[in-house]
Amino acid sequence: MQGWNVARARMTSASASPIAKRCRRSGRLHLTGAARTTVSAVATCVLQAAHALAADGPVNAIPNMFAPVSPPAEGIRSLSFLVMAIAAGIFVTVTAVLFWCVWRYRARSDDEHEPPQVYGSNQIEWSWTIVPVLIVLVLFLATARTINELQASDVPPEALRVTIVGHQWWWEIKYPDLGVVTANELHLPVSRDGARRPTYLHLESADVIHSFWLPQLSGKTDVVPNRRNLMWMEPNQTGVFLGQCAEYCGTQHAKMLLRAIVHEPAEFDGWVAAQKKPAAVVDTVAAGRAVFQSTACINCHTVDGTNANGRFGPDLTHLMSRTTIGSGAAANTPENLRAWIDSPDHFKPGVLMPAMKLDDGDLDELTAYLLTLK
Ligand code: CUA
Repeated sequence: MQGWNVARARMTSASASPIAKRCRRSGRLHLTGAARTTVSAVATCVLQAAHALAADGPVNAIPNMFAPVSPPAEGIRSLSFLVMAIAAGIFVTVTAVLFWCVWRYRARSDDEHEPPQVYGSNQIEWSWTIVPVLIVLVLFLATARTINELQASDVPPEALRVTIVGHQWWWEIKYPDLGVVTANELHLPVSRDGARRPTYLHLESADVIHSFWLPQLSGKTDVVPNRRNLMWMEPNQTGVFLGQCAEYCGTQHAKMLLRAIVHEPAEFDGWVAAQKKPAAVVDTVAAGRAVFQSTACINCHTVDGTNANGRFGPDLTHLMSRTTIGSGAAANTPENLRAWIDSPDHFKPGVLMPAMKLDDGDLDELTAYLLTLK
């Protein structure tokens, strides 16, 4: 394998995250050609696993589409099993016939005659025309039925409505009926027989095409500028489910991660109530608040009740209620938060948030203030 020269290399900067430390120890890969594609796919898996480890609580570390917990994802799994069974049947049949022919009609030393020459057979030609047509018809009908089941047309009145806005490279999450705005972590109630709580999501983009994908909850749906796509999910299990942007959208596409937190209904109502509260005002961090309100932070971020009303980056009113920062790039710990403000590029090279170039004192005060935004 040409191109797989693993070289020990110096990583350019230091990190507070254990995952980054582990990566640093493993050195850097110098790759050419197709190896890069494979490595990119592997890197995405590794990222997802790291993403899972980054937060507390039970997390489904692998976003496995074969372990669905919501009807649209279940429909996709059933269809994929049918398609795989048919494809496996064709593979086994063709391979078996091929090997049988190779063995049955092998060259023999005593056989010097030319084999009988046959020109055309209506029976065989009809069968290899009709059988594939029937197979394709079955696949078409099964796919059409699944698409029809998945298609979200009307939003039922009892549904929770959410608007997702894809940004480079994070997710804005709005609950228009509840007056809640958050980012990157979608909270939703579990649905039970007799108490159905489906969630309908309107997908919008602020810049380029993204794709919203929570494999255990629903299929991928593109997030297209100047368009509103609709999708739905109805999780029947509580827990944390991982997902990510599934359409290449620029440098940090791979770190446009996503998590869904499915709550018991009462717990969900509690989360909503907490999100609706105004931003905490804590006197001991007044200095940090002053730093925040006097720097460029306010141009891109919103904190309710302050002069910060930017829309370019995530709403920070309840920042500390989230388990990750940088759209899943790192766990939301005080150390990571401080390191993130100091140099976001370190966790997420190419990120659109600039390093704030604050001195250590201001950085400490600003971090202390952000830590109170529960
Ligand atoms: Cu957003 Cu890829």
